[in-house]
Amino acid sequence: MEKRFYVTTPIYYVNDVPHIGHAYTTIAADMLSRHNRLMGREVFFLTGTDEHGQKVEKAAQEKGRTPKEHADILVENFKRLWIKLNISHDAFIRTTDREHIDTVQELMQMLWDRGKIEKRSYAGWYCTPDERFWTEKDVVEGKCPDCGRPVEQINEENYFFLMSKYHDKLIKHIEDNPDYILPETRRNEVLGFLKNNALGDLCISRPKTRLLWGIPLPFDDRFVTYVWFDALVNYYSATRYLAPPTHPSPSRGEGKGGGETLNSDDWWPASHHLIGKDILTTHAVYWSAMLMALNLPLPKNIFAHGWWTIEGKKMSKSLGNVVDPNEMAEKYGVDAFRYFLFREVPFGLDGDFSENALINRINTDLANDLGNLLSRFLAMAEKYFEGKIEPAVSVSSLSDFSNHCIRAVKDANDEQGWSHLRFNLILENIWSIVSETNNLIAKEEPWKLAKSDMGRLKDIMFHIWNAIRVTALLIYPFMPSTAEKMWKQIGLKSLIEETTDTLSGEEKYPQIIDWEWRPDYEIKVSKGEHLFPRIETKEAKKK
Ligand code: MSP
Repeated sequence: MEKRFYVTTPIYYVNDVPHIGHAYTTIAADMLSRHNRLMGREVFFLTGTDEHGQKVEKAAQEKGRTPKEHADILVENFKRLWIKLNISHDAFIRTTDREHIDTVQELMQMLWDRGKIEKRSYAGWYCTPDERFWTEKDVVEGKCPDCGRPVEQINEENYFFLMSKYHDKLIKHIEDNPDYILPETRRNEVLGFLKNNALGDLCISRPKTRLLWGIPLPFDDRFVTYVWFDALVNYYSATRYLAPPTHPSPSRGEGKGGGETLNSDDWWPASHHLIGKDILTTHAVYWSAMLMALNLPLPKNIFAHGWWTIEGKKMSKSLGNVVDPNEMAEKYGVDAFRYFLFREVPFGLDGDFSENALINRINTDLANDLGNLLSRFLAMAEKYFEGKIEPAVSVSSLSDFSNHCIRAVKDANDEQGWSHLRFNLILENIWSIVSETNNLIAKEEPWKLAKSDMGRLKDIMFHIWNAIRVTALLIYPFMPSTAEKMWKQIGLKSLIEETTDTLSGEEKYPQIIDWEWRPDYEIKVSKGEHLFPRIETKEAKKK
């Protein structure tokens, strides 16, 4: 088993207002990180902001600020949102960090020294807002094929990374490593693209006459670095100055002193780069080729998720339908919002967001299924046993129920499911425990047993308690505060988070997730607030 887990989100353009798309990827990375911490791995979860480029330069000018001053103000929007959404990142990188700039320049110099970069004169169509060149055949009636705004003809000298050399190597790497790009549809897209097109070289400089706000090329300071080259390097540069200290492991660190490669740290390569489907080419092609040219290992996986439309429409500022994650979290609760995003749509596919769909999920899965299960259980425990739950003695008649739960726990923690980011299936498995437990209550009718068979009732109550316990552990990566609330209400004393202990090398999680686990103290449950109060809408009332 890998002992270290390194996950990244894209670094977001600092001048964007954070929206559902930003929240989506970052919450996914948070879930993976929390799961892996529970599994006892050392985790490095990196997010951050992309701060160079024309848009920031221009917006700062308009406000009469330097670009850095402007970025310093805007970066807070992201930092605040991550606190609100309960994101447990270990580091926040900004491309204006001195150490990042140094790494970009060092890598750039290395590529130059190794003859992987060439100076050429270049004529092409340039889209200023998108900060990228297009070829004659890409341009649609004088407009950018991506954003539809006019492009201009530009003729200038620039530096090119000789990316075309990596064409065959890229295809081979993707073919040899079926999990390199996921989901499979995206992998096929990249392969199709590479097989049907000649890969060009990549213009990685911008003359200072056109753009000042960037990292100067170390070998020609009349130019700054193309923002994407700068941005992609963040995943690697962060491992040098932002990664948590590691604990020695005999199988790692072999790259040290290897001379040719820069792989002298413990965190590279990343386990997953999580990105949206629109930035797959920059990652799967540009970044992979850059790493090959630098003799650095490639990440283990690049996962491109789908896009959210909003009530059937593309989300856009001009339509005024941009979903603000702050508002959703305030209105519906952080955990409900987190749950919805990953239960509603398989990660990897496009999905449609609507408040109605969110309310439906809250009322059915969260309020009815999960919330009611807990509150009914607590009410019964208090009514029949003054809150005390005793481990069951005879359980054979409940073995079907136990076996179902044991299997669902195993499926929900299946490594394949997690490494392929099948979040909705994992949640389905967890919810099968919840439904099975609700069915058990319906079938056994504890209120009748209370009059006829207190012994059996005691056993049933213990089984319900046990099912709620494992459910709390399993939902922790998705809904951390709900999990902790449940954990406390069912009488468990230490926090779930305390089960994470990578330092002692003690494997706590397998013990406490085991169906047979019992606390070494008396279990006394205590009723708390309802986890998810129903949301009454006009429609729900009508029903
Ligand atoms: N700065 C670059 C990334 C550099 S990574 C080395 C960038 N930044 S961004 O702020 O535009 O990032 C946006 C992220 O949000 C992308 O992953 C994109 O896919 C995602 N989304 C933007 N709109 C989205 C939806 N409507 N739905 C889901 N995700 C979407 O790109």
